[in-house]
Amino acid sequence: MNKKIIAPSMLAADFANLQRDTELVNASDADWFHIDIMDGVFVPNISYGMPVLKAIQKHATKPLDVHLMIVDPDRYIKNFADLGAEILTVHYEACTHLHRTLQAIKDHGMKAGVALNPHTPVSVLEDLIHDIDLVLIMSVNPGFGGQKFIKNTYKKVEQLKAMILEHGTNTLIEVDGGVNADNAGALTKAGADALVAGSFVFSSEDPKATISNLKAVIS
Ligand code: DX5
Ligand code: ZN
Repeated sequence: MNKKIIAPSMLAADFANLQRDTELVNASDADWFHIDIMDGVFVPNISYGMPVLKAIQKHATKPLDVHLMIVDPDRYIKNFADLGAEILTVHYEACTHLHRTLQAIKDHGMKAGVALNPHTPVSVLEDLIHDIDLVLIMSVNPGFGGQKFIKNTYKKVEQLKAMILEHGTNTLIEVDGGVNADNAGALTKAGADALVAGSFVFSSEDPKATISNLKAVIS
Protein backbone atom coordinates (compact mmCIF):
# COMPACT_ATOMS: atom_id res chain seq x y z
CA MET A 1 0.00 0.00 0.00
CA ASN A 2 1.31 3.40 -0.95
CA LYS A 3 2.10 6.02 1.65
CA LYS A 4 -0.75 8.52 2.08
CA ILE A 5 -0.03 12.15 1.36
CA ILE A 6 -0.91 15.39 3.16
CA ALA A 7 -0.69 18.58 1.11
CA PRO A 8 -1.25 21.77 3.12
CA SER A 9 -2.85 24.49 1.01
CA MET A 10 -0.75 27.65 1.08
CA LEU A 11 -3.91 29.65 0.32
CA ALA A 12 -4.54 29.56 4.06
CA ALA A 13 -0.98 30.57 4.98
CA ASP A 14 -0.10 34.03 6.30
CA PHE A 15 1.11 35.85 3.16
CA ALA A 16 2.93 38.41 5.29
CA ASN A 17 4.91 35.51 6.77
CA LEU A 18 5.21 33.31 3.73
CA GLN A 19 8.79 32.24 4.37
CA ARG A 20 7.89 31.29 7.94
CA ASP A 21 4.86 29.24 6.84
CA THR A 22 6.80 27.60 3.99
CA GLU A 23 9.52 26.56 6.44
CA LEU A 24 6.84 25.33 8.82
CA VAL A 25 5.59 22.94 6.13
CA ASN A 26 9.20 21.93 5.34
CA ALA A 27 9.72 20.96 8.97
CA SER A 28 6.38 19.17 9.30
CA ASP A 29 5.13 15.69 8.40
CA ALA A 30 3.49 17.12 5.26
CA ASP A 31 4.44 15.64 1.88
CA TRP A 32 3.61 18.33 -0.69
CA PHE A 33 2.84 22.03 -0.92
CA HIS A 34 -0.62 22.61 -2.44
CA ILE A 35 -0.67 25.81 -4.49
CA ASP A 36 -4.06 27.26 -5.53
CA ILE A 37 -3.98 29.55 -8.55
CA MET A 38 -7.31 31.35 -9.21
CA ASP A 39 -8.00 33.77 -12.04
CA GLY A 40 -11.30 35.42 -11.07
CA VAL A 41 -12.86 33.99 -14.26
CA PHE A 42 -13.01 30.22 -13.86
CA VAL A 43 -13.71 30.78 -10.16
CA PRO A 44 -15.14 33.90 -8.48
CA ASN A 45 -11.93 34.72 -6.64
CA ILE A 46 -8.34 35.74 -7.38
CA SER A 47 -5.68 34.12 -5.20
CA TYR A 48 -2.08 34.69 -6.22
CA GLY A 49 0.11 34.07 -9.24
CA MET A 50 3.67 33.48 -10.38
CA PRO A 51 5.59 35.91 -8.13
CA VAL A 52 4.08 34.42 -4.98
CA LEU A 53 4.68 30.87 -6.19
CA LYS A 54 8.28 31.88 -6.92
CA ALA A 55 8.65 33.14 -3.35
CA ILE A 56 7.32 29.85 -1.95
CA GLN A 57 9.46 27.80 -4.32
CA LYS A 58 12.59 29.61 -3.14
CA HIS A 59 12.19 28.13 0.35
CA ALA A 60 10.19 24.95 -0.26
CA THR A 61 11.97 21.61 0.12
CA LYS A 62 8.96 19.44 -0.83
CA PRO A 63 7.14 18.94 -4.15
CA LEU A 64 4.88 21.72 -5.42
CA ASP A 65 1.39 20.44 -6.22
CA VAL A 66 -0.11 23.23 -8.33
CA HIS A 67 -3.90 23.42 -8.77
CA LEU A 68 -4.90 25.74 -11.61
CA MET A 69 -8.40 27.17 -11.30
CA ILE A 70 -8.05 29.20 -14.47
CA VAL A 71 -9.52 29.24 -17.98
CA ASP A 72 -7.34 28.11 -20.88
CA PRO A 73 -4.49 26.79 -18.70
CA ASP A 74 -2.42 25.79 -21.77
CA ARG A 75 -1.19 29.39 -21.89
CA TYR A 76 0.83 28.95 -18.70
CA ILE A 77 2.11 25.35 -18.73
CA LYS A 78 5.69 26.42 -19.50
CA ASN A 79 5.61 29.11 -16.79
CA PHE A 80 4.65 26.59 -14.12
CA ALA A 81 7.26 24.11 -15.32
CA ASP A 82 9.89 26.86 -15.08
CA LEU A 83 8.65 27.68 -11.57
CA GLY A 84 9.37 24.12 -10.45
CA ALA A 85 5.87 22.61 -10.28
CA GLU A 86 6.07 18.85 -9.91
CA ILE A 87 2.37 18.20 -10.42
CA LEU A 88 0.23 20.50 -12.57
CA THR A 89 -3.52 20.00 -12.25
CA VAL A 90 -6.03 21.59 -14.62
CA HIS A 91 -9.81 21.55 -14.37
CA TYR A 92 -11.78 19.21 -16.61
CA GLU A 93 -14.36 22.00 -16.93
CA ALA A 94 -11.74 24.48 -18.19
CA CYS A 95 -10.20 22.39 -20.99
CA THR A 96 -11.73 21.87 -24.42
CA HIS A 97 -8.87 19.63 -25.54
CA LEU A 98 -7.97 17.97 -22.26
CA HIS A 99 -5.95 15.14 -23.81
CA ARG A 100 -3.71 17.64 -25.57
CA THR A 101 -3.33 19.70 -22.39
CA LEU A 102 -2.25 16.64 -20.38
CA GLN A 103 0.27 15.75 -23.05
CA ALA A 104 1.71 19.26 -22.97
CA ILE A 105 2.06 19.12 -19.17
CA LYS A 106 3.96 15.82 -19.42
CA ASP A 107 6.08 17.10 -22.30
CA HIS A 108 7.22 19.83 -19.90
CA GLY A 109 8.41 17.22 -17.40
CA MET A 110 5.55 17.51 -14.90
CA LYS A 111 2.97 15.03 -13.64
CA ALA A 112 -0.46 15.74 -15.13
CA GLY A 113 -3.52 16.16 -12.93
CA VAL A 114 -7.20 16.67 -13.69
CA ALA A 115 -9.56 18.33 -11.20
CA LEU A 116 -13.32 17.68 -11.13
CA ASN A 117 -15.86 20.13 -9.75
CA PRO A 118 -18.49 18.71 -7.38
CA HIS A 119 -21.05 18.52 -10.21
CA THR A 120 -18.78 16.63 -12.62
CA PRO A 121 -19.08 12.83 -12.47
CA VAL A 122 -15.88 10.75 -12.42
CA SER A 123 -17.19 8.77 -15.42
CA VAL A 124 -16.08 11.59 -17.76
CA LEU A 125 -12.49 10.38 -17.22
CA GLU A 126 -13.12 6.81 -18.37
CA ASP A 127 -11.47 7.30 -21.78
CA LEU A 128 -8.55 9.27 -20.37
CA ILE A 129 -7.59 7.58 -17.13
CA HIS A 130 -4.45 6.01 -18.64
CA ASP A 131 -3.11 9.49 -19.37
CA ILE A 132 -3.72 10.98 -15.92
CA ASP A 133 -1.19 10.89 -13.08
CA LEU A 134 -3.56 12.41 -10.51
CA VAL A 135 -7.26 13.14 -10.25
CA LEU A 136 -8.22 15.92 -7.85
CA ILE A 137 -11.78 15.56 -6.61
CA MET A 138 -13.12 18.89 -5.38
CA SER A 139 -15.03 18.37 -2.14
CA VAL A 140 -16.16 22.02 -2.12
CA ASN A 141 -16.94 24.38 -5.00
CA PRO A 142 -13.55 25.78 -5.99
CA GLY A 143 -12.69 29.39 -5.27
CA PHE A 144 -12.41 29.72 -1.52
CA GLY A 145 -10.83 28.08 1.48
CA GLY A 146 -12.75 27.34 4.64
CA GLN A 147 -15.90 25.85 3.06
CA LYS A 148 -17.96 22.90 4.24
CA PHE A 149 -17.06 19.42 2.96
CA ILE A 150 -19.59 17.93 0.48
CA LYS A 151 -20.42 14.37 1.57
CA ASN A 152 -21.11 13.05 -1.95
CA THR A 153 -17.31 13.09 -2.32
CA TYR A 154 -16.96 9.68 -0.61
CA LYS A 155 -19.01 8.04 -3.37
CA LYS A 156 -16.96 9.76 -6.08
CA VAL A 157 -13.69 8.60 -4.52
CA GLU A 158 -14.98 5.02 -4.40
CA GLN A 159 -16.15 5.15 -8.03
CA LEU A 160 -12.83 6.59 -9.17
CA LYS A 161 -10.85 4.03 -7.20
CA ALA A 162 -12.86 1.24 -8.90
CA MET A 163 -12.15 2.79 -12.32
CA ILE A 164 -8.41 3.00 -11.58
CA LEU A 165 -8.28 -0.62 -10.42
CA GLU A 166 -10.27 -1.78 -13.44
CA HIS A 167 -7.87 -0.03 -15.83
CA GLY A 168 -4.76 -0.94 -13.83
CA THR A 169 -3.30 2.57 -13.83
CA ASN A 170 -1.14 4.23 -11.15
CA THR A 171 -3.35 7.33 -11.00
CA LEU A 172 -3.42 9.01 -7.58
CA ILE A 173 -6.66 10.31 -6.04
CA GLU A 174 -6.47 13.68 -4.27
CA VAL A 175 -9.33 15.28 -2.34
CA ASP A 176 -9.45 19.05 -1.89
CA GLY A 177 -11.77 21.20 0.22
CA GLY A 178 -13.08 21.05 3.77
CA VAL A 179 -10.71 18.24 4.77
CA ASN A 180 -10.20 17.82 8.51
CA ALA A 181 -9.44 15.14 11.10
CA ASP A 182 -13.10 14.03 11.08
CA ASN A 183 -13.29 13.09 7.39
CA ALA A 184 -9.63 12.29 6.56
CA GLY A 185 -9.78 8.66 7.70
CA ALA A 186 -12.97 7.88 5.78
CA LEU A 187 -11.56 9.54 2.65
CA THR A 188 -8.40 7.44 2.62
CA LYS A 189 -10.47 4.35 3.40
CA ALA A 190 -12.63 5.16 0.35
CA GLY A 191 -9.47 5.25 -1.77
CA ALA A 192 -7.94 8.71 -1.53
CA ASP A 193 -4.13 8.86 -1.72
CA ALA A 194 -3.61 12.57 -1.06
CA LEU A 195 -5.54 15.06 1.05
CA VAL A 196 -5.33 18.84 0.76
CA ALA A 197 -5.96 20.79 3.95
CA GLY A 198 -5.91 24.57 4.17
CA SER A 199 -7.84 26.26 6.95
CA PHE A 200 -7.87 23.17 9.15
CA VAL A 201 -4.06 23.34 9.26
CA PHE A 202 -3.31 27.06 9.24
CA SER A 203 -6.21 28.19 11.46
CA SER A 204 -5.15 25.78 14.16
CA GLU A 205 -3.06 26.86 17.09
CA ASP A 206 -0.18 24.57 16.14
CA PRO A 207 -0.20 23.88 12.37
CA LYS A 208 2.77 21.52 12.57
CA ALA A 209 1.04 19.37 15.20
CA THR A 210 -2.21 19.48 13.18
CA ILE A 211 -0.36 18.13 10.14
CA SER A 212 1.08 15.34 12.28
CA ASN A 213 -2.41 14.54 13.60
CA LEU A 214 -3.80 14.34 10.05
CA LYS A 215 -0.93 12.07 9.03
CA ALA A 216 -1.60 9.84 12.01
CA VAL A 217 -5.32 9.60 11.15
CA ILE A 218 -4.61 8.42 7.58
CA SER A 219 -1.59 6.20 8.16
C1 DX5 B 1 -10.41 25.73 -2.98
C2 DX5 B 1 -8.98 25.29 -3.09
C3 DX5 B 1 -8.52 24.52 -1.91
C4 DX5 B 1 -8.56 25.29 -0.63
C5 DX5 B 1 -8.78 24.29 0.47
O1 DX5 B 1 -10.85 26.23 -4.19
O2 DX5 B 1 -8.78 24.48 -4.23
O3 DX5 B 1 -7.24 23.97 -2.12
O4 DX5 B 1 -7.39 26.01 -0.38
O5 DX5 B 1 -8.99 24.98 1.65
P1 DX5 B 1 -9.77 24.33 2.87
O6 DX5 B 1 -8.95 23.15 3.33
O7 DX5 B 1 -9.81 25.45 3.86
O8 DX5 B 1 -11.13 23.93 2.39
ZN1 ZN C 1 -6.78 23.36 -4.36
